[in-house]
Amino acid sequence: MAGSGEPTATELHSLSQTFLNRRPRAKQAVPSFVMKYGLSILATFAVLGLLGLVFPYTGFYNVAATEGHTGLEEWYLSTLSRRSIQSRAGEIEVPTSLADSGAVARGAMAYAQMCQTCHGGPGFERSVTGEGMTPTPPLLSETAPRWTSGEEFWIVQNGIKMAGMPAFGPTHSDEELWELVAFVEQLPNMTPDDYTALTAQPDTTSARPLADDGHDHVH
Ligand code: HEC
Repeated sequence: MAGSGEPTATELHSLSQTFLNRRPRAKQAVPSFVMKYGLSILATFAVLGLLGLVFPYTGFYNVAATEGHTGLEEWYLSTLSRRSIQSRAGEIEVPTSLADSGAVARGAMAYAQMCQTCHGGPGFERSVTGEGMTPTPPLLSETAPRWTSGEEFWIVQNGIKMAGMPAFGPTHSDEELWELVAFVEQLPNMTPDDYTALTAQPDTTSARPLADDGHDHVH
């Protein structure tokens, strides 16, 4: 049994080799993966990014409104704008007098003047201008219930770029914008007769008579 407790020089050497070789290899597993694929992934992104920047110059993309959007474009743009609107409209405080009949009537007059051409109304088609747009402005009597009052306010105030929805905030007071929202919310329940009655009235709410001749007109 003499010398059995002591490792020989050869044994020591091979032990140290095993130790030296294994430890570093185990540690290198992650960095070597990054070195091997990380650079290729980065290079791929760089090439794709460069192609994306060059693409507009090629003239390959057809911007014709008559072309419509592909399914992917439609999904991308509608998700982009829906999420953008939802995440910005959450803080908006809705006035308690929203359904006030005066507000609805004033909103109806404004709607007929500013929105019907694109969005149509009960008994009214979109105009040729609205029909020719891509995306085609939705019929609000159908889509209004998909949005909260705050979201509708945000849309009318700020507009939607890349869609052609104008912003009315720069030209109208918050009160006028809320009147539009109040009316838009009534749209789904409105018959063509209701709409015509509301919008055919002389606009006494915003029009001021030039002079009062002092007596009531009865015809
Ligand atoms: C020049 C045409 C045009 C006019 C005028 C216009 N809109 Fe729009 N509106 C659009 C387009 C385009 C969209 C976005 C469609 C899309 O994203 O698919 C839109 C979207 C909307 C939406 C979101 C509806 C939905 O379901 O996506 C609301 C609400 C809205 N408009 C309200 C109004 C109101 C209220 C007015 C008038 C004050 C108005 N719009 C005037 C074109 C117009």
